[in-house]
Amino acid sequence: MADLVEAGKIRAVGVSNFSAEAMGRAHAVLAQRGLPLAANQVRVSLLDRSIERNGVLDVARGLGVTLIAYSPLAQGLLTGRFHDDPSTIGAVSFGRRMASSIRPRTLERTRPLIDELKRIGAKQSATASQVALAWVVQFWGDTVVAIPGATKAQASDRGRRALKVELSRKELDKLDELSRRV
Ligand SMILES: NC(=O)c1ccc[n+]([C@@H]2O[C@H](COP(=O)([O-])OP(=O)(O)OC[C@H]3O[C@@H](n4cnc5c(N)ncnc54)[C@H](OP(=O)(O)O)[C@@H]3O)[C@@H](O)[C@H]2O)c1
Repeated sequence: MADLVEAGKIRAVGVSNFSAEAMGRAHAVLAQRGLPLAANQVRVSLLDRSIERNGVLDVARGLGVTLIAYSPLAQGLLTGRFHDDPSTIGAVSFGRRMASSIRPRTLERTRPLIDELKRIGAKQSATASQVALAWVVQFWGDTVVAIPGATKAQASDRGRRALKVELSRKELDKLDELSRRV
């Protein structure tokens, strides 16, 4: 990857699903070539906060690596659409249902969190998804950015509008608390 930067074919180096330890190693190898490790794409959302436990967040902060949160909407679970109509779970692929635990019991457990996302959103004419995305990119300061998925152009437009949602400290903390309870 350092060769590619030097050849002018890429501007920066990013990795994906690297552990804290692997990030450290990649950073050290690149540093020998005078290059930073720009990013690590990892799974992060209000329903997956493993970066706080596995050292990835601390190492990213220490080394100045940006974490790109993939599946920031827990593959649609945090949009609230399955909570609004649980019968739509049946149309979701088996793999996606397993990966994000999209099942009736999860809907029950996460309902207070979704209700709060909707409640906060209503104050700013925003949807639950936009608030969930805003939380991911605001809660950990500059370290985390997000790459929400969109199968429809409309979802991508709505995702962009999440950048306009501003959450207060109290709202960030309330969502933090509810997500820890899930
Ligand atoms: N590096 C890796 O290992 C890795 C792994 C997984 C994903 N990724 C990447 O991460 C990105 C996002 O992943 P993801 O698709 O899992 O992300 P996600 O943002 O958690 O979920 C996206 C899904 O949520 C639903 N959605 C999005 N906006 C919505 C809205 N406004 N209203 C209702 N539903 C909405 C859509 O589902 P419907 O299509 O059902 O409408 C969409 O496909 C993708 O670019 C993917 O390639 C990377």
